[in-house]
Amino acid sequence: MQKGLFISVEGGEGAGKTTVVDKIESTLRKRKYTVLRTREPGGVELAEQIRHLLLHTKQMEMDDRTEALLYAAARREHLVKKVLPALESGSIVLCDRFIDSSLVYQGYARGIGMEEVWKINQFAVEGHLPDLTLYFDVSPEVGLARVKKDQVRDWNRLDQETVHFHKKVEKGYKLLVESEQERIKVIQAERPFEEVYHQALMIIEDTIKGVE
Ligand code: TMP
Repeated sequence: MQKGLFISVEGGEGAGKTTVVDKIESTLRKRKYTVLRTREPGGVELAEQIRHLLLHTKQMEMDDRTEALLYAAARREHLVKKVLPALESGSIVLCDRFIDSSLVYQGYARGIGMEEVWKINQFAVEGHLPDLTLYFDVSPEVGLARVKKDQVRDWNRLDQETVHFHKKVEKGYKLLVESEQERIKVIQAERPFEEVYHQALMIIEDTIKGVE
């Protein structure tokens, strides 16, 4: 692959994207692709520190726009230090969350507005968008029940939000999917694991074929 391939993975809480992408990563590696597996917020040291501030600092009141700016700052750092160099060297980048998470969580669910959040993110990413985005579609009820059952998963600040907030997240993603049908593909993530994995892998294989 000449230029690399940038794939982001999106969804609400408990969508199961991490486990599915783990398996996709190992399948692609077995097929001798170079893969960078990474996540947002985080992926490089400064962005991981911002992640800690955003997600794991209990009792920290934060203004909604401050939160949006911190996500955008973490994104910028991660993009230039890790994602772009990997794409440059021809890797497949599998990134857990990217710009769509900000549009949906900060823009739609917090109510700042997707347009506003898009503007600050344009400053951060300078036009670099994923080639493909997989949206793991799970209802908030199913997703939150999965999170509750998952004992090993760390507490995160977004877990304290109401079901109402997570329903808005779901609605936000649905709006984005409608407006970005070329880039964002929907995965029926309430289906059994193997089905979800195969659906996601097929879409990725098609995209790889398109650039090889
Ligand atoms: P996760 O790594 O378990 O998916 O958690 C990351 C959390 O951060 C998740 O609740 C969504 C949230 N988030 C935002 O609100 N905005 C963003 O831009 C990103 C990348 C994540």
